[in-house]
Amino acid sequence: MKKIVILISGRGSNMEALIAARDAGQLPVDIAAVISNRPDAMGLETAARAGITAHFIDHKAFAGREAFDAALAECIDSFAPDLVVLAGFMRILKGEFLRVFANRVVNIHPSLLPAFPGLESWKQALDYGVKFTGCTVHFVDQGVDTGPIIAQQTVPVLTGDTAETLHQRIQQAEWELYPKAVGALARGAVRTQGRQTIWKEK
Ligand code: GAR
Repeated sequence: MKKIVILISGRGSNMEALIAARDAGQLPVDIAAVISNRPDAMGLETAARAGITAHFIDHKAFAGREAFDAALAECIDSFAPDLVVLAGFMRILKGEFLRVFANRVVNIHPSLLPAFPGLESWKQALDYGVKFTGCTVHFVDQGVDTGPIIAQQTVPVLTGDTAETLHQRIQQAEWELYPKAVGALARGAVRTQGRQTIWKEK
């Protein structure tokens, strides 16, 4: 069975969706650990309650990004995961970290990339006036939200939506999409060809 490590920074609802899918027998992975860069991340308690090893590595305790990335990489590597799953992890990973975990880091982003990369993408979508937005699961590469796309799900923008209501509906889509995409990766049902990802099954 493939082993994953989940990285979080906050609430951890995507992490919860992954744990629930695993518990329901829909996600054939061993969740070896959950790691947060913030000691106060709510998701750490949720992970511990689910009996999953939970660590925090406070990025503020390090002199710079590279030192933090190195400590994070060492902690992740101690679990020898097949996949590193970012679930609301709000630090940019690049350089040596991504060389160590090349093609093994995936992220969920709250927009239909390449539209609205970066922060508060649901607000960007609302301000822009698009009629559809959604969420994207992608491999993490050296850019910000630029890696090959694995899966996407659309969410309509409704009249009267606020940033909060739109983000809530995007999150519901995320909770469906992420377990499906991670499950497909774990079963070896997705292969990459340059920027394209090809699903052997849906
Ligand atoms: C999610 O909406 C996720 O897509 C977003 O943060 C939220 C985390 O929620 N991630 C990003 O914006 C990454 N650029 P969660 O902690 O409840 O899973």
